[in-house]
Amino acid sequence: MRTASATAQAQHGAIDINRFRHPIEFLFEEHDRQRVICAAFELLAHDCAADRAPEIAALILGYLEHEMPLHIADEEEDLFPLLTRRCTPEDEFEELVALLSCEHETDEKHYLALLAPLRAIVNGLGPPDPVQFAADARAFAVRQRRHLGWENGTVLPLARRRLTAADRAELGRKMAERRGISDRP
Ligand SMILES: [Fe+2]
Ligand SMILES: [Fe+2]
Repeated sequence: MRTASATAQAQHGAIDINRFRHPIEFLFEEHDRQRVICAAFELLAHDCAADRAPEIAALILGYLEHEMPLHIADEEEDLFPLLTRRCTPEDEFEELVALLSCEHETDEKHYLALLAPLRAIVNGLGPPDPVQFAADARAFAVRQRRHLGWENGTVLPLARRRLTAADRAELGRKMAERRGISDRP
């Protein structure tokens, strides 16, 4: 069976290890890609029978199936534990991380439910219930933008302030390994 990292590597092709030397910037870039996904969902919600709908659905599907699980793991398994170690009580990170982890769980359930209708659009069939799909797609975009607001506005600035050079190196190494790349010979 193919591992998640091997699949990710196949998706990315040759990933430049240098991108992971600046892991916080990589996470900001990933959030920019998630904003594109939100906009793509809104396009489909507006008209899931448009000529370009299969192409747009394929873009979203690729991201949700391959990139999103890696991104959530980057945050849950590496970034949040590092920040929990480094933040001071006045950062109030504990409350924030509880909220964001809860959102990761519920968002995962919601986007997994969107995969089947997206596949149907990719195959030119259209979602079984277009009205429900449009509502779910718009709701995903709203929730995701709020989540990105917390992470870009609070979590990543905290990471810039609190993580040491060694923390950043460890974070980048783990994120690269998760995608099946290593800078070791
Ligand atoms: Fe994130
Ligand atoms: Fe997140």
